[in-house]
Amino acid sequence: MRLDKYLAESYVGTRKEVRKLIIDGVVTVNGEVENDPAIEIKENVDLITCMDEVIVYPGRRYIMFHKPAGCITAKSDEKHKTVMDYFSIEDRKGLFPVGRLDKDTEGLLLLTNDGEFDNRLMHPTHHVSKRYFFWVLGSITEDKIAQLEKGISIGEDDAITSPAKIEIVQTGKYEALEDQIPPYTYDSSNMKDNKYIQMVTSGYITITEGKKHQVKRMLKAVGCYVIYLKRFQIGELELDMKLKPGEYRELTKEEIENITPFMKIDIY
Ligand code: URA
Repeated sequence: MRLDKYLAESYVGTRKEVRKLIIDGVVTVNGEVENDPAIEIKENVDLITCMDEVIVYPGRRYIMFHKPAGCITAKSDEKHKTVMDYFSIEDRKGLFPVGRLDKDTEGLLLLTNDGEFDNRLMHPTHHVSKRYFFWVLGSITEDKIAQLEKGISIGEDDAITSPAKIEIVQTGKYEALEDQIPPYTYDSSNMKDNKYIQMVTSGYITITEGKKHQVKRMLKAVGCYVIYLKRFQIGELELDMKLKPGEYRELTKEEIENITPFMKIDIY
């Protein structure tokens, strides 16, 4: 790998900035000052320093994060807490979220510093499935299930969703199921006062697209209002139940290979 690429990918600076540092003579390779940005070095073999600090190559990173409700999926934001706030400044370097979950949605979110991983996983032609658990106000009849599974208009240029899979877990009156419903993560200010006699339904929905607010809009299209949403699975990868909301861990080599069977990733 070129020396300037090594330094840029180690977050020392932009390509332009690190080239200047190299030309300025503050970068060494195995103890010798190196002035050529294009020189080939071997990551994890050659010893690189910049301004007397050893620069360790971070390599590609793939993180499973249990996103809590109440933070937005963004790299930074002036007003809201973001998913990056759960990472130390050192640990978040170069990371960005793969896809997004709404502020009030919990569950499995991946982060990486590998743009190709992000592209491939998010690319619509790969149809990577995403499985969510939901609670809605309303009931979901067999007819509604058929509509959701076949494809339904969610109002964006009359777009019809791709086939989905629905599994109903529970349905009944709110008052009977109240103790099983997680605290509302969604705005309930527009709910009628008679919520206790309303029907509620929980279940799983699996989709292979990632349109904005897709699950909420699909369920709204059959007359239901999402009050809780959590993503449990992306492709073959399930949320590790040992992770509490706000916690994260690196994916294992096997998990990375399983989630990206259509791409060759040279891991570590
Ligand atoms: N669908 C939604 O409506 N929200 C999410 O956060 C993810 C999928």
